Amino acid sequence: MKAFFIDRYGKQNGMLGEVPDPVVGVHDVLIQVHATSVNPLDSKIRTGEFKLILPYTFPLVLGNDLAGVVVRTGSAVKRFKPGDEVYARPPEARIGTFAELIAVNESALALKPLNLDMAEAASIPLAFLTAWQALVEIAQVKKGQKVLIHAGSGGVGTLAIQLAKHLGAFVATTTSTANVEWVKALGADVVIDYKQQDFANELRDFDVVLNSLGADVLENSLKVLKAGGQLISLSGPPTAQFAQEQGLSWVLGQVMRLLSSGIRRKARKHGVSYTFLFMRANGMQLQKITSLIEAGVIKPVIDRSFPFESTAEALRYVEQGRSKGKVTITIK
Ligand SMILES: NC(=O)c1ccc[n+]([C@@H]2O[C@H](COP(=O)([O-])OP(=O)(O)OC[C@H]3O[C@@H](n4cnc5c(N)ncnc54)[C@H](OP(=O)(O)O)[C@@H]3O)[C@@H](O)[C@H]2O)c1
Repeated sequence: MKAFFIDRYGKQNGMLGEVPDPVVGVHDVLIQVHATSVNPLDSKIRTGEFKLILPYTFPLVLGNDLAGVVVRTGSAVKRFKPGDEVYARPPEARIGTFAELIAVNESALALKPLNLDMAEAASIPLAFLTAWQALVEIAQVKKGQKVLIHAGSGGVGTLAIQLAKHLGAFVATTTSTANVEWVKALGADVVIDYKQQDFANELRDFDVVLNSLGADVLENSLKVLKAGGQLISLSGPPTAQFAQEQGLSWVLGQVMRLLSSGIRRKARKHGVSYTFLFMRANGMQLQKITSLIEAGVIKPVIDRSFPFESTAEALRYVEQGRSKGKVTITIK
């Protein structure tokens, strides 16, 4: 099959070429990929930034989101059949959606929302599962709570704003001047233009902050949280608890404990909790997300779509860090 893969780690690596078709296990569903989307994670995987946490072998087909059609199912698969239109963030150990075919454990799959086309559907899984796991699973956001979502114009932010509003929260977000109006239109109650304003001076008494930016933003976020609030970070630093959940070595656990000791200490001083979230594949959660999308509660936000041949360009585009919503790639 045709796929975009790397044969070693490196910033510029990756080529479109032929690789063997995937092996389909008894719990796997073989999917013809129609569309995929790009996440900053793809670039981090290709540079090797995640090699201690995710030890891949080569050739490694990149890609963490898919929408497509079921071709064949393993003998133990119960919930899917050939012809079903599905979408998924495959489990992190077996990624590879920048490809014509992928075998995915059925536990990660859900039926694609009927009201989305393939590219729209491929824009959802990783980013929305991240928002879901942060706001529903960890924060358990309640009606009337105040939630700050950093980088509201990004792939995760555009969906997290909509989800937080659906949960009944008062939502603030940060973005740059040019994005303020359309991010407001996604439902944010307050939009902080980070080019002109300092969010830490503008916001007070928040219950939850979802951070996906750097260490300075993470630390300043403590100032806007009220006692008992929750600081959830997607961009690190990771914690020993994460190392344990991930089954990493004791040594890595200690390294992560050390990396996060500063922010954990400051969080304790402010009387708030600190959680590092590394999102996980989850077909059951994705099926609930399908219902929200079909009910019209959540809408995908797509910046640009690239053809399969331009995968390297799509990666470069996302690496610039200026995407407005998601960037998709059409495979079929
Ligand atoms: N831990 C996890 O499980 C997990 C899951 C998903 C994502 N992530 C991480 O979370 C981060 C965001 O992911 P993403 O997919 O949303 O990325 P993205 O779509 O590439 O984010 C781009 C957006 O970030 C905004 N942005 C950049 N700097 C900003 C700043 N200082 N303040 C406010 N907004 C800013 C940009 O808006 P402007 O152009 O207006 O600056 C742009 O719209 C990435 O680092 C990703 O790796 C982690």
